[in-house]
Amino acid sequence: MMITYKHEPFTDFSNEENKRAFHAGLHWAEQELGKDYPLVIGGDKIMTDEKIISVNPANKTEVVGRVSKTDRTLAEQAMASALEAFESWKKVKPEVRADILFKAASIVRRRKHEFSALLVKEAGKPWNEADADTAEGIDFLEYYARQMLALKDGKKVESRHGEHNRYEYIPLGVGIIISPWNFAFAIMCGTTVAAIVTGNTVLLKPASTTPVIAAKFVEVMEEAGLPKGVLNYIPGNGSELGDCLVDHPKTRFISFTGSREVGIRIYERAAVVHKGQIWLKRVIAEMGGKDTIVVDREADLELAAQSIVRSAFGFSGQKCSACSRAVIVEDVYDEVLERSIEITKELTVGDPADPNTFMGPVNDRQAFDKIMKYIDIGKEEGELMIGGEGDDSKGYFIQPTIFAGVDPQARIMQEEIFGPVVAFTKAENFTEALEIANNTEYGLTGAVISNNRMHLEQAREEFMVGNLYLNRGCTGAIVGYQPFGGFNMSGTDSKAGGPDYLLLHMQAKTISEML
Ligand code: NAD
Ligand code: ALA
Repeated sequence: MMITYKHEPFTDFSNEENKRAFHAGLHWAEQELGKDYPLVIGGDKIMTDEKIISVNPANKTEVVGRVSKTDRTLAEQAMASALEAFESWKKVKPEVRADILFKAASIVRRRKHEFSALLVKEAGKPWNEADADTAEGIDFLEYYARQMLALKDGKKVESRHGEHNRYEYIPLGVGIIISPWNFAFAIMCGTTVAAIVTGNTVLLKPASTTPVIAAKFVEVMEEAGLPKGVLNYIPGNGSELGDCLVDHPKTRFISFTGSREVGIRIYERAAVVHKGQIWLKRVIAEMGGKDTIVVDREADLELAAQSIVRSAFGFSGQKCSACSRAVIVEDVYDEVLERSIEITKELTVGDPADPNTFMGPVNDRQAFDKIMKYIDIGKEEGELMIGGEGDDSKGYFIQPTIFAGVDPQARIMQEEIFGPVVAFTKAENFTEALEIANNTEYGLTGAVISNNRMHLEQAREEFMVGNLYLNRGCTGAIVGYQPFGGFNMSGTDSKAGGPDYLLLHMQAKTISEML
């Protein structure tokens, strides 16, 4: 009998045995450093001369891996292989497809600390963030496998006397999976296996700063029994390779997670019908956020400060869900601000391989420069209360930074910074606080800290975000519990990890037979 879905528990690192196990994982990751990785096309391992060099953002001289790079010719080869594999994979029973995901989940679970340790090295994640990333990947495997089993017979429709009607879901074709670096395992794995378990074949283009963890995932799927050609691993230059895959007439759908800028580009390009194309491409685009925590006058102010700090600075603020705006009702503004500063002072910034580190580095040079530029802008737009310093001598480290007294229309209140920077602003009352919270073009996550029931109800109706949290922080959605996706310029609201997600990867077919 199948066990009911429950999310993968997070590892308790106060337990010495778990600590030792994680150190063993780190030791394994150390041994893996600097290896060469092939592309995987139709099951063939293809090593190219040109490589993407993946480095540890906490130590720029440490090479995590050298990953083969896909050019146009290889991309064509991958498409041909995925098209061929689709002809047989689409006929494989959903139960068998689900079994491969269950098997992959158990392989990753057994090697959990190895995967997390690799995320420490390649993505700069502190232990608990890496552990959560791996756990979420396992959750996607377990949850989507079960969802496929629930959908395998389609849905019920009525039949009249003398006819028999059926309503079934069939796969779409070849999907392009384009994933970000910030949930380098979870999102890459989740978006890939959702497409695969529904009977599609895929070309996976991982983010260029985190291709090694994706290569390890592809190995797991092979070990779990996935037939050749179903999952083709093709890292490469984002814009060059990305455009060519998105434009391809045989591409049936694109599942993208990343920035607003690239998401819009993909959405627009995918709308163009190319010669030989016989369908309209489907696009799942999950994009950026500018997420707010609202604090009411009647509220647990300690909870408010803790929620703001954890949501703003967890994984150095590099989450689409991160709190980058704190909107506080004026009566409690000073108290929440002061307490947030106090908590922030206690945060440790440093090597993510050290279990005592709260915040590791930011992703790369580009991220470091962008965040530091926004910190300069913040100094013009508000009062720097803490942080504001960066150090890129060894890795890309930026101190957790709080700006106060920022105008709701200021750039640091409107534009996604994607780093450890949070701006505080004052609202006259709760209604104004919600208006400010809604005044960006994004709509991904948001939280309200309040003990006023009517205000919580008001937020339920008026706060326009895909994921609204009441009396907690705004990060950390769990697969199967808090389906994830945003409104407006945060994307297509696909609700990853939710009951409707797999449907986006299939088309419904109605079959009506006269009896
Ligand atoms: P990004 O948009 O720079 O890159 C995402 C992916 O797109 C990468 O694989 C990249 O190589 C690829 N890419 C780049 N140019 C492309 C093009 N022209 N065509 C096709 N693909 C192209 O984003 P990122 O820096 O990797 O990730 C951070 C962003 O992702 C943030 O904006 C964050 O908010 C967002 N994000 C959103 C969610 C969500 O669920 N809404 C989750 C995680 C991250
Ligand atoms: N799903 C991630 C979170 O909720 C982005 O924080």
